[in-house]
Amino acid sequence: MTEHHELKQTELKYCRDRSLAANPVKIEDLTLRDGYQSLFATRGRTEDMIPVAEMMDEIGFWAVEVWGGATFDTMHRFLNEDPWERLRILKRYFKKTPFSMLLRGQNLVGYRNYPDDVARVFVERAAENGMDIFRTFDALNDFRNFETVVEVIKKSGKHFQGCVCYSMTEPRMGGEVYNLDYFLQKAKELEEMGADSVCVKDMAGLLSPYDAFPLIKALKDNIGVPIHLHSHFTSGMAPFTHLKAIEAGVDIVDTCMSPYAYRTSHPAIEPLVMSLLGTNRDTGFDIESLAAINGKLEKDILPKYKHLLDDSRLSVIDINVLLHQTPGGMLSNLVNQLREMNALDRINEVYEQLPRVRKDLGQVPLVTPTSQIVGIQTVNNVLFDDENESYKMITSQVKDLCFGLYGKTPAGVNPEVQKKALKGYPRGEEPIDCRPAEILEPELERAKQEVEDITTDIDDVLIYALYPVTGKKFLKYKYGLETPPDSLKPKSLEEAKKEEELIRRLRSGEFRDALKKMEKKSEPPEGEHVRKFNVYVEGEEFEVAVEDAGTPFVSGASAVQGSSPAKPAFNEPKAKAEASAQKPEAPKAESSKPAPNVEGHPIKAPMPGIIVRYEKKEGDAVGEGDTVVVLEAMKMENSLTTPVAGTIKSINFSEGDSVAKNDVLCVIAK
Ligand code: CO
Repeated sequence: MTEHHELKQTELKYCRDRSLAANPVKIEDLTLRDGYQSLFATRGRTEDMIPVAEMMDEIGFWAVEVWGGATFDTMHRFLNEDPWERLRILKRYFKKTPFSMLLRGQNLVGYRNYPDDVARVFVERAAENGMDIFRTFDALNDFRNFETVVEVIKKSGKHFQGCVCYSMTEPRMGGEVYNLDYFLQKAKELEEMGADSVCVKDMAGLLSPYDAFPLIKALKDNIGVPIHLHSHFTSGMAPFTHLKAIEAGVDIVDTCMSPYAYRTSHPAIEPLVMSLLGTNRDTGFDIESLAAINGKLEKDILPKYKHLLDDSRLSVIDINVLLHQTPGGMLSNLVNQLREMNALDRINEVYEQLPRVRKDLGQVPLVTPTSQIVGIQTVNNVLFDDENESYKMITSQVKDLCFGLYGKTPAGVNPEVQKKALKGYPRGEEPIDCRPAEILEPELERAKQEVEDITTDIDDVLIYALYPVTGKKFLKYKYGLETPPDSLKPKSLEEAKKEEELIRRLRSGEFRDALKKMEKKSEPPEGEHVRKFNVYVEGEEFEVAVEDAGTPFVSGASAVQGSSPAKPAFNEPKAKAEASAQKPEAPKAESSKPAPNVEGHPIKAPMPGIIVRYEKKEGDAVGEGDTVVVLEAMKMENSLTTPVAGTIKSINFSEGDSVAKNDVLCVIAK
């Protein structure tokens, strides 16, 4: 064991044929999945992975992550690509390196628990299509949510990597829940389930180097299978953490090729290779081959993706993660939600209340989707609670959590909050304690029937079963029943370069006068050669129409014709819930509908949102506290109850309508 605990310098030779280290650190490369997902909105196309695939296959990575997480969703939804096809294509180029995927336990590659029949067939097909290593995690670290998928992974003869989500309630590892013992216990559970390796999944970059050392050491001393560390860079600590984990004997760490590294992604591989050069843990990687891959990525691939990188801040680290021990993505969502409700000045109250709400909800790890569930509920409490009542507006997702639909929380849920949340809950007021999927009805056969007019291929059926709305649309494109819009088509390198040139000219101020004039004038009619571009200037997206008179950008013949702030298409949340894709429009900031002229008690929208459904209709009698309407805001559903008893006098919107804050949704006559 002791050889693990220090780095020993062997004969230092900076050359390709240096001798193999005694215990080389193994590397999983995440460029093609978590790299794209963290920095480039998961928009990486298969055709842009092929040019570097064979070069990457030669490096000697333990595995490459190519699938899972948000790729399945993004590919069929935004890229018009078949996610299964990517696996088969890349497998032709990666002949030696095993493939790894991120599997969200019973959530598979979606955002809800799928029933066992769907889960089983999904894993079978993933294995059949070329997946080798299944990195499996659950947002609550409730490994009962692994049972179904693990059985199939093992039966398929594939590698089951069990994850423990790393979380904290204090600035350092420890406290009542997330202490060394907790993580050790969880790792043991995984080993007992048959894990071929155990991964510490530090999705928010919270693991500090001097917690990593004792943690990894304890795992190495007590767990028989290889230990793997997945630590995001977000807070800036990950490279230090890697090094201490390596000293403690970690077997495998995760990195990205440098253009896909840092910010909310992972440490880069190149500095790690050089740091370990000539030690007993030398990776053995050839730095010049890595440089050649980088060269290709920078020159031929990344110009097409650069615009997706969030460069609104110069700093590559998120200091808030260090201050609040919460994931960066969660914090930016909170800021967005408060801004939408015109309450950004209350952000400090949200930070203050967040630990309390998390405690009430059983100290859940903060990872998708639990981070959003805790975050949005905290915002609701800050905005709507008063001195007489707390948890006035409980989201449906919090109710589901209190019911046990996500699994068992690491600590107990506050019984008072639980009781209040489950009052009138449709599945019952008594929480369940069984494995959540046990109460789910099978869905696969119905899914087969629902797309049988389009396809009978099981991989296609799974796309539909996982994503009914966008999945069906994709299948229609795939089989030529509908024509995909141009926005789903890939961008050529030439187009990317033209756009970049346009942005450069916009930023240089070349069009400043023209833009000013246009703000006053209405848009002129478009000529037949007009081409439209979306360009980003100082954080705002503009749709710019350019008349293409022969050779634009060279002859000076192009003229900016019209510019108006467009919908921020590049700003979509990286993991958009299926539910929101079904909604036709975004919530409005201003009311468009006058309040009805009916006497009685109005139920107003407390926030902008989309009507999910009315639970009552006109003429229905309601009692005090009954849910009248369900409103979706920030992907969370909020049940609005009536404070008075009476009869529904008027209903002013329909399902799917967008409403503004204070819109009168219905009126109740006493
Ligand atoms: Co990750």
